[in-house]
Amino acid sequence: MTLSREQFPADFRWGSATSSYQIEGAAFTDGKGKSIWDTFSHTPGNIKNAETGDVACDHYHLWEQDLDLMQDLGLNSYRFSISWPRVLPEGQGRINSKGLDFYDRLIDGLLQRNIDPFVTLYHWDLPQALQDQGGWVNRDTAHHFAEYADVVSQKLGDRVSHWITHNEPFCTSMLGHLFGVHAPGLRDQKFALQALHHVYLSHGLAVPLLRKNSKPDAQVGITLSLHPVYPFSDSPEDLAAVRRHDGFRNRWFLDPLYGKGYPWDTWALYGDQVPDVQEGDLQTIAAKMDFLGVNYYYREVVKHQTGAGVFEVEEVHLPDVKRTHFGWEVFPEGLTTLLERVHAEYRPEKLYITENGSTFQDEWVNGKVLDTDRQQFFAAHLQECLQVLQKGLPLKGYFAWSLLDNFEWAEGFDKRFGMVHVDFETQKRTLKHSGEWFMDFLRVGVVH
Ligand code: FCB
Repeated sequence: MTLSREQFPADFRWGSATSSYQIEGAAFTDGKGKSIWDTFSHTPGNIKNAETGDVACDHYHLWEQDLDLMQDLGLNSYRFSISWPRVLPEGQGRINSKGLDFYDRLIDGLLQRNIDPFVTLYHWDLPQALQDQGGWVNRDTAHHFAEYADVVSQKLGDRVSHWITHNEPFCTSMLGHLFGVHAPGLRDQKFALQALHHVYLSHGLAVPLLRKNSKPDAQVGITLSLHPVYPFSDSPEDLAAVRRHDGFRNRWFLDPLYGKGYPWDTWALYGDQVPDVQEGDLQTIAAKMDFLGVNYYYREVVKHQTGAGVFEVEEVHLPDVKRTHFGWEVFPEGLTTLLERVHAEYRPEKLYITENGSTFQDEWVNGKVLDTDRQQFFAAHLQECLQVLQKGLPLKGYFAWSLLDNFEWAEGFDKRFGMVHVDFETQKRTLKHSGEWFMDFLRVGVVH
C-alpha cells in the first residue's frame, strides 16, 4: 500500500510523543522533588524486574541529541510533558528555577529546529509532597495544579502553541486509585472517582490561566485514552453490556468536559461510590477547549456477565487476532470508528491523535532493528487518519508513541514502543526500520 504525505493537509502536525518520567531520568538532580512515580517504582513488587525511571533515557542530559533526532526524522511538532516536582519540588510555593530552565532550554531548542512544542502539564508524576496530603483525592490538589499551570505558563507561554492539561485521566484515576497498578497504588473505587473529579476540576481551573499567560493563538485542550467498545455478539444482553462499559471507559470522561455532567446511567451503577461534586464544579470542568487529544491503542470487545462487578461486563480476548507484545489487539479501523463517534457526539473543534503506537519484541538483523510490525502498525493507522480526513473530520495532527524506547510504567523497560532503539546500558540511540520509514514518509513524501 502506498502512502504519501501529500494526501494530508499541508499544515498537518506530525509529531512524536513522550513523557517526563518515562524518558528524562535525573530523578534526583538539580533540586527536583520526589514524584509519586519515584516512590512507587522504588517500592518492591510494583515494577517488572524492579526497574525504575531514575535514569530512563537520560533525556535530561541528552535532550539536544534527541531534538536532533526529531529534526532528522522531519517532525514538525513534539509532545512532551513537564515534571511538576522538577518545577515545584513541594508541589506548591517554592519554584526550582533549574527545573523550569530545563524546559525553557528545551522549548528554545525545539523552536530553533522548527519543531512546535505541544506541552502536557500532567503525565502522572504528581509531587510526592502533595500525595502526602492525600494527592488527587484531596480537593486542594486541584488548586495546587492551577498554581503550577500558572507558574509554567507565565514562563513558557510566549512560545508554547498547544497546552494539554492532563494525559489520560482514566489512568490517573482508575489505574492509580482503583486497580493499584500505577502510582499511588491505591485500590478504592470511591477514591478513584473522587480523584478523577479533582483532576477534572484542576483542568477547568487551569484552562483560563493558560490562556491568560499564553500568546493569543495558543490552543488549550486535554488528552483522553479512548477505546471503541464492540459487542461479542448481537444479543440484547451484550449490546447493553457495551453501553455500560462505554460509560465506564469513555462517557464518564468525555461527558463532563463537554457540559453534559457525569452520565446518569453510569452514575447510578456506581451507587454510593460517586464523587462529591460541589456547586459550580461542572461548569468549571466544562471550560471551553480548542481541541481534544485522543490516544488510540486498541478496541475492547465485551459481553454481559451476570455478577461481574456493578457493570456486569466481561472483556473478551478474541483468539486469532493480531496482538502487540502487550497483548493489545491491532485494530486500525477502530481509530476511524472512535473519532467519528467523538465528532458526532461531542463536536470538538479540533482533534489530534496525541498517541498511537505499538510494542513488539524487536529483532536485530545485521546491526539494524527490523521492526516491520511497528512500521505496518503506523502505516495502517495513518491510512485510517486519511479515512477520517476524507470524512471531513477536523483531524489536525498525529503523534507517534514514541520517539524513544522508554520506561513503560509497571512494565519497566520490557515493552519497547520507540521508533528509535535505546540501549539502556550505553544510552546509544539507533533509528529502527519504522523510524526510517517514517522519515521517508515525511522527507521523501512517499512510502510503500
Ligand atoms: C499510554 C500512556 C503512555 C504510554 C503508552 C504506551 O497509556 O499515555 O505514557 O505508556 O500508553
